[in-house]
Amino acid sequence: MTVVLKLGGSVITEKDEPETVDRAALSAAAAAIADSAVGDDVVVVHGGGSFGHHHAAEHGVSTTEGTHDAGGVRAIHGAMCRLNAAVVDVLADAGVPAVPVHPFSAAARDASGDLSLPTAQVRTLLDEGFVPVLHGDLVAHADAGATVLSGDELVVELAPAVAADRVGVCSTVPGVLDEGGDVIDRIETFEAVASALGGSDATDVSGGMAGKVRALLALPAPAVVFGPDALPAFLAGESPGTTIAGDDTN
Ligand code: IPE
Repeated sequence: MTVVLKLGGSVITEKDEPETVDRAALSAAAAAIADSAVGDDVVVVHGGGSFGHHHAAEHGVSTTEGTHDAGGVRAIHGAMCRLNAAVVDVLADAGVPAVPVHPFSAAARDASGDLSLPTAQVRTLLDEGFVPVLHGDLVAHADAGATVLSGDELVVELAPAVAADRVGVCSTVPGVLDEGGDVIDRIETFEAVASALGGSDATDVSGGMAGKVRALLALPAPAVVFGPDALPAFLAGESPGTTIAGDDTN
């Protein structure tokens, strides 16, 4: 079983304190991954939280707005590397064979924004028994300098590349919520939930739940969106929170 797991930045960092790891939350996640990584191939992707977003905002960089300021690139990427090192350390302390993989060193976007992400190293690391740990990062972007590459985008690229059987997105909410604030159990088409998610804004490709759901629906494997408390259940093979399974899901 191959699992791609995204740990949201706001799950593992103190969102309002610049560059502060939420040690308790990260340790709990690492313990859950340590329990499951024994039998499964696991790829971990983590978000930026109070490391990436704070620096990205300061330098006016987003998934579409780029920068040519090398100092800004070093600041944003450097912060994400510090968070990645902290995540890898905590996973290692829990007994997980975690190793860092930095997307900025490998990926690129063309002028129309299409991402090319080499994945041979991730596949090989998995085959060799490692747990690759990637992170939201910056990416070289033709005609824009460098733009933000979100962890969600990485998940969508990686899941088919490693033939993931399951995709998990651990965020601060317990699932995708309907208008009344209740967790939607299962989503099979975007249309069915478009109104609950605030419409079908096609430009919302990375931020917001609508973009997340749309991207996860296109995956060949079912994706599960759940809160931190449900991480052990997800890794045990259960489907807590919301299951997102589009037409192409096998
Ligand atoms: C953001 O990654 C990375 C940077 C800002 C450089 P994500 O967009 O995946 O982060 P979270 O999960 O929303 O914090």
